[in-house]
Amino acid sequence: MCGIVGYAGPIGGGAKEHSRPIEVVLEGLTRLEYRGYDSAGVAVLDGEGAHVVKRAGKIVNLKEALESEAVSESAVAIGHTRWATHGGPTNENAHPHIGGKQGKLALVHNGIIENFAHLKELLLAEGYEFHSQTDSEVAAHLVARAYDATGNLTTAMREVVSMLEGAFTLLAIHHDEPGTIVAARRNSPLVVGLGEGENFLGSDVAAFINYTSRAMEIGQDNIVTLTADSVDVIDFDGNPVTDSKRYEVEWDATAAQKGGYDSFMAKEIMEQSQAVADTLLGRSEDGKLQLDEMRIDEAVLRRIDKIVVVACGTAANAGEVVKYAIEHWCRIPVEVELAHEFRYRDPVVNEKTLVVAISQSGETMDTLMAVRHAQEQGAKVVAICNTRGSTIPRESDAALYLHVGPEIAVASTKAYLGQITACYLLGLYLAQVRGNLFPDEIAQKMHELQQIPGKIQQVLDGMDQVRDLARRMVDTQSVLFLGRHVGYPTAMEGALKLKEIAYIHAEGFAAGELKHGPIALVDEGQPVFVVVPSPRGRHSLHSKVVSNIQEVRARGALTLVIAEEGDNEVNQFADEVIRIPQTPVLFAPLLSIIPLQVFACELATAKGLDVDQPRNLAKSVTVE
Ligand code: M6R
Repeated sequence: MCGIVGYAGPIGGGAKEHSRPIEVVLEGLTRLEYRGYDSAGVAVLDGEGAHVVKRAGKIVNLKEALESEAVSESAVAIGHTRWATHGGPTNENAHPHIGGKQGKLALVHNGIIENFAHLKELLLAEGYEFHSQTDSEVAAHLVARAYDATGNLTTAMREVVSMLEGAFTLLAIHHDEPGTIVAARRNSPLVVGLGEGENFLGSDVAAFINYTSRAMEIGQDNIVTLTADSVDVIDFDGNPVTDSKRYEVEWDATAAQKGGYDSFMAKEIMEQSQAVADTLLGRSEDGKLQLDEMRIDEAVLRRIDKIVVVACGTAANAGEVVKYAIEHWCRIPVEVELAHEFRYRDPVVNEKTLVVAISQSGETMDTLMAVRHAQEQGAKVVAICNTRGSTIPRESDAALYLHVGPEIAVASTKAYLGQITACYLLGLYLAQVRGNLFPDEIAQKMHELQQIPGKIQQVLDGMDQVRDLARRMVDTQSVLFLGRHVGYPTAMEGALKLKEIAYIHAEGFAAGELKHGPIALVDEGQPVFVVVPSPRGRHSLHSKVVSNIQEVRARGALTLVIAEEGDNEVNQFADEVIRIPQTPVLFAPLLSIIPLQVFACELATAKGLDVDQPRNLAKSVTVE
């Protein structure tokens, strides 16, 4: 939710550098637009104070405004792209906000300041004027007010963070410190980009990947003072922080571009073969599985008597898929729970519980809160994450990274496959440590997993049939998805994709549940996707799903069947058969979801919708 960018260059850099701060910040905002697109704005410092340009709507509106509005030379610039929480998506509520009675300060904020109403009353009583309905403008006035009292932006920020409750990343610039940006973070993301004679700040590394691949993590409750050639970090108590982790970003700017595709989602779907190959890369040596990022003692893992997966949205569907595999391999009960539900009941979790937190962004607030809650109960937490340096892996006891590269589209695709793959690795690792599987069994499963990228490519290469189907179904109002066993979460994920990007009513059901109610939804022409399990494995399950196809067909459904190559039994009951290569049952979800992703993407495109930035959504949900 919300993307923030900061740039600090040399003071009086000359004509060439004149436009650089704004250019860098606009470029960064464009790359972070997936985080929110209700409004966008930038601020620089001019001779009189802070100069802000901001517009409701997407960044294109801001760019248009900047074409007609001259911006003075400034060493620093900050920018923001918003996902609205407090106050509608208007020009006034857009960030940056001007702070103070003389308008010398500008501030951007990501998060929610929970006690803003009380603070606003205090400020109003002191004569401060408000121009927005946001919680963020309070922080702008507070920092400006503290600056008036202390004459130092870092000290002012430190005073203010102690007054705020909630989640925030704040970036502030002040007329009287023309080469400095001061940033603070609590429960919202912030990373520093280290350049040559210039430095950067961003919600994630995408903000500055065009300029530098050297990054520095900023820890919880830290304040950064950034200039063109210095980065100083302190904690909220004012103590210097000297152990901020520096790292090299693994991907480059081209990975965050559409590369000729209509949308990032279309591109990311096509990257899935490589994504799974990258998640698997370097994990097994001499037939033994190595998970370098696992920092939990093997003795602790041997004592675990329950696994709880916490996640939201697509990541939760990934958890539902891998539950079947981990229980089967490790003989440990696995529960999968939506992080926001887990946090607010009284779950039975203790030091014998392993909590697996799945999050592409590593910043989802609901999942982060679930992680903290689990740790308070004594549980160990493994994060399955794509974003280096993000909060969830930093706070977890161990982390397993996906390595699938940046996922820009709001609808998650390649990260979903990466999450499932990484969890398979975790399951096999646990089975190895706990002795549930013999080494040759693990080696065999790893071998089968290594075949998956090739099979994904085969599925992707055959997707014209699905694209054509999607275009024919452009006026569809409702689609049902059915599956059993690992096909059930696949059905739920297929429905989620269609809902979120094509705005079509879609439901994923366990096929066995059909007769208990949902079949009442089926009438003439109702499209129903059915994910059919392999006839080679659990034969009874295959025949049960084939019966389910017949049941909906008998009631007039249009049956769209995803079935393994060679499974000809389904042909007679299917209006359309979409083939996937033969693969072991537990790994089939890595293939069977692909047609459903492609279907949603193509249908949304055919409807003329913004596939990458669907309405009302943001890529990472950093508020509860
Ligand atoms: O970054 P996370 O994996 O924690 O995000 C979780 C969900 O918000 C996310 O998967 C969401 O459901 C996607 N938009 C689905 O495509």
